[in-house]
Amino acid sequence: MKNVGVLTSGGDAPGMNACIRAIVRCGVSHGLEVVGIRWGYAGLLERDFVTLGARSVSNILQRGGTFLGTSRCEEMKTPQGIKKAVEILREEGIEGLITIGGDGTFRGATALAEAGYTRIVGVPCTIDNDVYGTDHTIGFDTAVNTALDAIDKIRDTAESLQRPFFIEVMGRTRGFIALDVGVAGGAEHSLIPEIKADLEDLSHSIEHDFRKGKKSSIVVIAEGDEAGGAVRVAQEIGKRLGVEYRVCVLGHIQRGGSPTAADRILASKLGAAAVDALVNGKECHMVGEMKGEITLTPLRETWGRMKELDSKLLELIKVLAS
Ligand code: F6P
Repeated sequence: MKNVGVLTSGGDAPGMNACIRAIVRCGVSHGLEVVGIRWGYAGLLERDFVTLGARSVSNILQRGGTFLGTSRCEEMKTPQGIKKAVEILREEGIEGLITIGGDGTFRGATALAEAGYTRIVGVPCTIDNDVYGTDHTIGFDTAVNTALDAIDKIRDTAESLQRPFFIEVMGRTRGFIALDVGVAGGAEHSLIPEIKADLEDLSHSIEHDFRKGKKSSIVVIAEGDEAGGAVRVAQEIGKRLGVEYRVCVLGHIQRGGSPTAADRILASKLGAAAVDALVNGKECHMVGEMKGEITLTPLRETWGRMKELDSKLLELIKVLAS
């Protein structure tokens, strides 16, 4: 193999730059030319390429976002888009491809492989942590810490005015962020998409929080919760309780910022593992880390299988908030 292409796709996540850096520097040390593809799959379809040397990735390890740019590319969801992408990869002589992103990125990569371009390795990078085949995705730890910092601050004002707060964290379909933030932030309640919320029960619990002497009650809600986001849940609970409450939607703040040490380390390990996998002839797999070991999971499984979530943490949140 003489060269390898690298792209970031879907929602950006802190640690993407650290991962690109690892891929470029490990690729160069293997004697490969590394071709950066700007703006994800959209840039691939536009042949927006840039050669990356060791110095092109200086001073990006600690930066959030992705210096290559990213996109959510509708054309890559069509057979024509996939066919065009395979033709471009072949015409440009890109011998292997590393795709950094989440489930949408790996759906695209699987489609490329099925259309005949098989030398692909994925690296899991999304704040949602909703990718099968790795304990943690790159970016998740930073997002949890960012949300935690906000919750600690909200707690100060919530206690001062004795108000219930409804805080929405990201997680379109899964509750990984809401669960971890709930435990680490000492939330009184967390609502996640995987478990149906009983709003009647929640309003009684919040009432009880104050009756037993708490000065605040924090409810963390995953944006994809079936009861609606924080605004809807708060309105429902507010009607039942008849007290003043506040809502805070943390939103894209969780996607930005300097990656934590844990995310930089994971990004560095998985970036290096992706290059090694390709160099060793591995195809159509995603690198991950499970129980401290580097793993390889078939691309199709990364989005086709459901990653388990530790729902026992919900019980722990309740007990610890008693
Ligand atoms: O990247 C994952 C994610 O941050 C989800 O948590 C969220 O639902 C979504 O992306 C938001 O996407 P966009 O930035 O396109 O609005």
